[in-house]
Amino acid sequence: MNGRRDFIKAASTGVIAGMLPVSVVRLSHAAPENDFTFAYISDAHIQHIKGNQFVRNWDRGLIRAVAEANLLEPKPDFVMFGGDLAQLGSKPELDHGAEILSALKYKTHMVMGEHDYYLDLGEYWSDLYGDQYYSFDHKGVHFVVLNSILTYDDWTFNRWETPERRMSEMAGLDNPNGSPFMVGATQLNWLKKDLSKVKKDTPVVVFSHSPLQKIYKGWNFWTEDADDVQKLLGKFDKVNVIYGHVHQIQYNQIGRIAFTSVMSTAWPWPYPQSYAQAESHLPVLTVPMNRADPFDERDATGWQFVDVNTGRVDLSFNLYSNDNRKVAFNADKGHPEDVSYPQIEIAPQRHY
Ligand SMILES: [Fe+2]
Ligand SMILES: [Fe+2]
Repeated sequence: MNGRRDFIKAASTGVIAGMLPVSVVRLSHAAPENDFTFAYISDAHIQHIKGNQFVRNWDRGLIRAVAEANLLEPKPDFVMFGGDLAQLGSKPELDHGAEILSALKYKTHMVMGEHDYYLDLGEYWSDLYGDQYYSFDHKGVHFVVLNSILTYDDWTFNRWETPERRMSEMAGLDNPNGSPFMVGATQLNWLKKDLSKVKKDTPVVVFSHSPLQKIYKGWNFWTEDADDVQKLLGKFDKVNVIYGHVHQIQYNQIGRIAFTSVMSTAWPWPYPQSYAQAESHLPVLTVPMNRADPFDERDATGWQFVDVNTGRVDLSFNLYSNDNRKVAFNADKGHPEDVSYPQIEIAPQRHY
């Protein structure tokens, strides 16, 4: 890892140009062999209608993201897909999504989303992609992938008369019949063991689908045992959690852990704050945060390019219908910030 942020400088001064082809100019580095980038695509929600018909908008979002990722320069070392490949977890949806993703020219790592899981409890997804949680090392960074969208056994196994009903109950955004997401004891034990081999000063990047922080329970922007995961992660010097699911740009800092979300290729969610009844359940966010426009159907949808050459995650957001944005870790302030909009902030919200 070296301390240079040339890519970020390039990105923030607008060198990333246009939509197609995507170009990213990288300047010289002291130790370029240690620098790397990866692309991140998330929340495609491929939705089957009937026969070979799928919801076109969601298809196009993913197809476009794959095409743009293939044109990236410099080439990312790998691509992450952040979960919710399917809308209702069906085989046609997962197959169609897999077919679109197969056009990627890079090694691709997958994260499980609740929309992929709750029809058959991840069985077909695992046939396609293997383990639901795992870790790997790449150029001095320890990467961990968790399945964070599990929930209580009673809800999963006993509550619903059919798998389809279970899936549709979990698919709803503001649904009192849903159930909070969690990582669960099995993965927590695995994570503890996995991290025991990692040195304190090794940068750690964790991928989950739901935020490993408690933002807004009503919409399941929430992981019930996030505190337990944070405890295990908090002992490392540089920890970065990247999550999907929320379909919007979020960033936050809890202790040593920097959190950044990735966007959706399908649609943006509005912000929980905009929900009239949410006043007493405002997100627990400690870093002032600019927000995209929830009334623009393509705002906060797109793809992002992640740079970890400082050991901290910096994200460039390439938005389909808005200015590109950059959320980078500010070492002086000790948390991520939206460098494209430093003048626009909403107040940090109180813990409750
Ligand atoms: Fe999603
Ligand atoms: Fe999700």
